[in-house]
Amino acid sequence: MTDTADSAAPAAGCPVPSGAVRLAGLEYQQTPSQLYRTLRREHGAVAPVLLDGDVPAWLVLGYPEVCYVTSHDELFARDSRRWNQWERIPPDWPLLPFVGHQPSVLFTEGEEHRRRAGVITEALEGVDQFELARECRRIADRLIAGFAGSGQAELMSAYAHALPMRAAVQMCGMPDTGTDTEHLVDDLRISLDAAEGDDPVAAYTRVGERIRQLVREKREQPGPDVTSRMLHHPAGLTDEEVVQDLISVIAAAQQPTANWIGNTLRLLLTDERFALNVSGGRLSVGEALNEVLWLDTPTQNFIGRWAVRDTQLGGRRIRAGDCLVLGLAAANTDPQIWPDAHVGAENSAHLSFGNGEHRCPYPAPLLADVIARTAVETLLERLPDLVPAVEPEELSWRPSLWMRGLVELPVLFTPVVQ
Ligand code: HEM
Repeated sequence: MTDTADSAAPAAGCPVPSGAVRLAGLEYQQTPSQLYRTLRREHGAVAPVLLDGDVPAWLVLGYPEVCYVTSHDELFARDSRRWNQWERIPPDWPLLPFVGHQPSVLFTEGEEHRRRAGVITEALEGVDQFELARECRRIADRLIAGFAGSGQAELMSAYAHALPMRAAVQMCGMPDTGTDTEHLVDDLRISLDAAEGDDPVAAYTRVGERIRQLVREKREQPGPDVTSRMLHHPAGLTDEEVVQDLISVIAAAQQPTANWIGNTLRLLLTDERFALNVSGGRLSVGEALNEVLWLDTPTQNFIGRWAVRDTQLGGRRIRAGDCLVLGLAAANTDPQIWPDAHVGAENSAHLSFGNGEHRCPYPAPLLADVIARTAVETLLERLPDLVPAVEPEELSWRPSLWMRGLVELPVLFTPVVQ
């Protein structure tokens, strides 16, 4: 069942037709695939939806339609200032951190975007993947040592979120331990994923200050790290541009990679296809990582693109300034690309890293793969008899339509004496 907004007739000037579906409700978080199926059946490839506060938008559910939107920047672009709904958005709107314009690579377009994204791409290309894997193993070992003796752990906070954050901070040229780094890691967590009582705005300000200090240090004393490569790139980014883009890189790396690790561990620990088979081996970690990208992808929905002018999409009339949410998870399971009703994971043609000009910059998916694979493999090697501490159906998903990740993943294992 979908919670349609028939009773809430669209406001005058509202670009989305009545019958729009409220993207809210706990049942969606637990079984989003059902929501996408229902939406597709009732509305086709492009569904009218209502975001928080009943703000209208379009959810693009079809694989060809997501590809079309993301490869036609002249029609659907990234600068959210074109939105025709700004007068309805209150200053404390929960989605503002994702949608409010910032002077970072995320919201730039055309030549300026190519300049900024080109610098990030080259800076990430300089990361040695073997070195990164070694560092991730070291971070993993330290985190595991923190709970190995107790025989139990809550893996989302103690491992899945903690590891990629430290790996990203270190790639950017900061030590992955020490009080300074711990404060930065805490502030990044609060600003990306605030809990009750946290102050995300203050935390974000402190993140900015710490990254500004890092940029000053690396200007004076460059090292073999992403920050130094961005600062000394011939494109000549200003220090403030580098600060903004570094925050985007760290933030873009953290949440999706953490949930990729968490969702893969859940699959490996709860799906019998991945349990030990007769010959004692497991279906590979690589297969689990890939299956998650198809079926339980971390970035389920991404806001978004804004229509540059009046146009059509999936039989819908889109007006200039309308907001389009990229339904990446729905597109991955579009029956058009899986016609015989079987959704598999044979290749990597999923849209989990986006598509087109603003897709996750080329080396980033490879680096994320190194981080996630090393995290999962190291954990399974060190704690081979790991089992979930609760029944699979007791695991609950975070109340977010944007990110798919578990609230907690409690596990048990034989304590390891250090
Ligand atoms: C080392 C880890 C990662 C880094 C450094 C990274 C970096 C970035 C950056 C800088 C962008 C902005 C690109 C732009 O606007 O031009 C981006 C976009 C994106 N990334 Fe990543 N990312 C990482 C991991 C991931 C993972 C694990 C996923 C999901 C499985 C993911 C999914 C996305 C998506 C969906 C977008 C938006 C694409 C679009 O707008 O079409 N990223 N990433």
